Amino acid sequence: MLILGIETSCDETAAAIVEDGRKIHSSVLHSQIPIHRPYGGVVPEIASRSHVERIEGVVRECLAQAGKDLEDIDAIAVTQGPGLIGPLLVGLSYAKGLSYALKKPLIAVHHLDGHVASNYLAFPELEPPFLALILSGGHSHFYLVEDYGQYELLGGTRDDALGEAFDKVARILELPYPGGPEVEALAKKANIGFILPKTMLEKDSLDFSFSGIKSAVKNLSDKMEMGEEERSGLASSFQETTFSIVKDKLALAMEKTGQKKIVIAGGVASNMRLREVLEELDAKIYVPPLSICTDNGAMIAAAGYYKLLRKDYAGLDLNASANLDL
Ligand code: KG4
Ligand code: ZN
Repeated sequence: MLILGIETSCDETAAAIVEDGRKIHSSVLHSQIPIHRPYGGVVPEIASRSHVERIEGVVRECLAQAGKDLEDIDAIAVTQGPGLIGPLLVGLSYAKGLSYALKKPLIAVHHLDGHVASNYLAFPELEPPFLALILSGGHSHFYLVEDYGQYELLGGTRDDALGEAFDKVARILELPYPGGPEVEALAKKANIGFILPKTMLEKDSLDFSFSGIKSAVKNLSDKMEMGEEERSGLASSFQETTFSIVKDKLALAMEKTGQKKIVIAGGVASNMRLREVLEELDAKIYVPPLSICTDNGAMIAAAGYYKLLRKDYAGLDLNASANLDL
């Protein structure tokens, strides 16, 4: 089965063709990072317009790279949500148009199901059940994945998502958008450290709270003369503190569920220091390659394949949803 996956939930216009949920034939992406950089973050209306301009070209390029015609595609999978409503509607409307014109099934994919599925593309042997930790710009949530598409929520952030906290700390340290990779690069230069609050919440809780740590970074930066040494020290201490929390919570999740198979997904999973820290756990950890950690069309096609197998089709009355439960 060849699935065309379309993703436009935020600032990437992305399309990919994936075979049987596991093999990428082509994956094309237009990133809006340079467009939003002057504003220090994603401007939803500008993002919507850019998706409108780019989606046709991205899908055509994706077909060309795979050497396929639209007629070769068996189904169209598209991100329904969560995300920015305008950007989501662009991808959804385009996918509906294709589905109607080609008389091919339309499949609605949850963005986070897509992030988890990026691991199916990277690890052919990976199958549920497993523990999933999604660390993106909008989510920091633990799930027990019992079967394809079957998620039991175990806990999640009560305030900022980890990626969001990285972006805010980046702004405090006067780094450009998107902040995550900038904080990671700056942290590598650190030769001093700061003590930040390691917020663990209740002993038994699989929830996170990152906003206090971010505020502690802000308070320290307000109090000090900020030179290169202080900036890199704060970046590194923020990473070390939050990743140590992530590691300890993962250990707790393993204890609670008895699961030793762990899938990490979402943009923050591209952080190399996080990967190092998680290696200390007595678990089999799956983290996708950098190319498919952040938003892409292939992950949507992969998740869509397993919905196709379940005959879980969407109708042409499908609507986008900025907040969508998994
Ligand atoms: O999954 P994603 O591409 O989009 C959402 O679904 O949100 O994640 C984007 C988030 C941003 O907050 C970005 O700063 C963060 O992932 N991120 C990182 C790194 N690369 C991206 N955070 C820490 N270290 C990185 N290397
Ligand atoms: Zn994402």
